[in-house]
Amino acid sequence: MNRKNSKIDRRSFVRHGVGAGVGAWALDRIPKKKMVSQNKSAGSPIIITSHTNDTAADAMQQAWSILTDGGSALDAVERGANVIEVDPNDSGVGYGGLPNEEGVIQLDSSIMDGKTYNAGAVAAIENIKTPCSVARLVMERTDHVILVGQGALDFARSYGFEEVDLHTERSRNAFLRWREEHSDRDDYGSPDHLVTPNQDEDDYDSIPFHYGTTNVLAVDSNGDISGITTTSGLSWKINGRIGDSPIIGAGLYVDNDIGAAGATGRGEDVIKCCGSFYIVMRMGQGRSPQEACEDAIEFIVHKYRNVNPNFFPSEKFVAINKDGEMGCASMGSNRVPSMTVANSDGLRIEEGVRTQYTG
Ligand code: GLY
Repeated sequence: MNRKNSKIDRRSFVRHGVGAGVGAWALDRIPKKKMVSQNKSAGSPIIITSHTNDTAADAMQQAWSILTDGGSALDAVERGANVIEVDPNDSGVGYGGLPNEEGVIQLDSSIMDGKTYNAGAVAAIENIKTPCSVARLVMERTDHVILVGQGALDFARSYGFEEVDLHTERSRNAFLRWREEHSDRDDYGSPDHLVTPNQDEDDYDSIPFHYGTTNVLAVDSNGDISGITTTSGLSWKINGRIGDSPIIGAGLYVDNDIGAAGATGRGEDVIKCCGSFYIVMRMGQGRSPQEACEDAIEFIVHKYRNVNPNFFPSEKFVAINKDGEMGCASMGSNRVPSMTVANSDGLRIEEGVRTQYTG
């Protein structure tokens, strides 16, 4: 590939629509068939993340350097995910992620190498800033796929990973506030809360749940494909709850002959529908990444909205295929879903399709 063209200029980090030339403002009004991603760089390396903040831009820049130096998709996705994991200001991934209902930050992460169809994952791991790197060791140094909890931590320590307190002042304060305010029927509360114990429970609606997660998916110059999904999971979750992120086929799936997909948002329905596997199989049947992501959203909505009393539309999927095309779709959010992309066209944010959920 042309190295000159592959250099990323941070000034070119601008928003684009996934459909070439399509502005974000028009996305919800354009027929779906026009949403098909047309990547001018088809066949050349690409890396994407479902994150769209400045850290994501740094992550994709660093990962893109690996790809343009001839490095593997596996190394690129690990670098990209590590940059996001160690960001103390990210409340949904790695260090500084939001904790469970006991105030403990438990991280879930998976990695998959399309070339070998090998995969590794850790779930509910504590005290390790870069769980995706532990997942990679599970993949490369064991014949298991998932290690959980204390076992995952012991495994990480045996490879020299440093144990740290994953709380930042911000994550700890968020937890303490949640513990004080989420109910007036327990023994925690701010001074105001404790002197007015019978106030309306609606007063506590302002403490939201968070589902922050990141997917990093890449194709390298050999055409090999890899992916990572990494998260601190659902905030205030029950101790030991594991989401979709460490489940191969749910939060992540990669097939070197087809492409890769990853999920963010509430993991329970993604686990039940094997969301990322479904998207990759749809791409294998000829659907574009964009169409396949929308197929998965529709699948979840139609299967679960009427039968699951806890149905809460929050899922977002991203996908790439072997030709360097990309897709991104979500349901029910106020925001148009987007992702950060790096390829020979530069570094930018691409916007996908928000599927209207009217349940
Ligand atoms: N998708 C992240 C989670 O549900 O934990």
